[in-house]
Amino acid sequence: MPFARSLASARAFWRRDIWLSFDNTTPRPARRVSFDIASLPFAQGASPVAKWIPEALTPLSYLPVYAELDEEIRLMYNQRTALALAEKYVFLEDHVLSPAIQTLLRSPHVRIDADARVEMELFCEEEKKHSEAFWRLVEAAAPALYPKREFRYMKTGAATQALLAACEAAPCASTSWIWIALFFEELTIRISKHHAREKSVDALFREVHYAHMVEEAAHVPLDRMLLARVFDTQSALGRKVSFAIFEKFLSHFSSPRHTPFVIFEEVAKAIPRSRKFLPRVRSELLTLRTNAPFQAEFYSAQSAPLTFKLLERYAEAHSFLHRSSPSEGAAS
Ligand SMILES: [Fe+2]
Ligand SMILES: [Fe+2]
Repeated sequence: MPFARSLASARAFWRRDIWLSFDNTTPRPARRVSFDIASLPFAQGASPVAKWIPEALTPLSYLPVYAELDEEIRLMYNQRTALALAEKYVFLEDHVLSPAIQTLLRSPHVRIDADARVEMELFCEEEKKHSEAFWRLVEAAAPALYPKREFRYMKTGAATQALLAACEAAPCASTSWIWIALFFEELTIRISKHHAREKSVDALFREVHYAHMVEEAAHVPLDRMLLARVFDTQSALGRKVSFAIFEKFLSHFSSPRHTPFVIFEEVAKAIPRSRKFLPRVRSELLTLRTNAPFQAEFYSAQSAPLTFKLLERYAEAHSFLHRSSPSEGAAS
């Protein structure tokens, strides 16, 4: 009998019946504004002498070493950071968010009302378009760096790949992807607004980020509904595991080390006088996790207000929510 009970609870963990629908507390997004990818000016390319991302969105600009970098070094670092951000969008949209939603749409254990189905299908369609837009953006801006559609900066290890496979195969059991979606989509809106404000940023980058933002705004209510229907209805243990994974993911934003360093290594190869800064870049990147302005920009109630407000409701999230930053040791 104990074996049968364990089997039943394991089955319930992996295969719960779920009902997806919007209601008064998790309302359907108000109408959608959408963009046509063909209307974006990829053919004009990006200016080689302009910034491609606002400085405030680049990790190194928060560090003392940045004051010593000359304009040429800063510009190359800035432009490569913009490419890395575009790759991050492609990665999250193609490999984290859409696969999980597509599994929900196909699952026999998930009942979906007509409104929710429309929103979920639209979500997948729009994310596919966003991914295409960001590939076209990096290809237009830096054709020599992207002869093929392969990630240059967004590398994932075996553990991340296993986690993504779990989210795709069992999105109702491995639910961290819903928090990742909510946090990331809120942050996306903020990032896009930054691009819109900074007139010194290249026009093509600003246009693509703006177009992305108008559709992302409608994704947040869908994430909110999925949290209520999928995340909230799982066991306490399931929530705890999902929060642990989400915490790890957040560390990529609150304590980025790997990607900024890889980018600076590329700069150091191209501009030999910047090589001498490599040790300082490496050691100062470790301080970002306690750098208050950086944390406010990327990991705070200011950068992702709904995510942080909702997290406060879960006792399981308090342990990492009230740290100055999440776990150490992660790379991004
Ligand atoms: Fe998107
Ligand atoms: Fe989205």
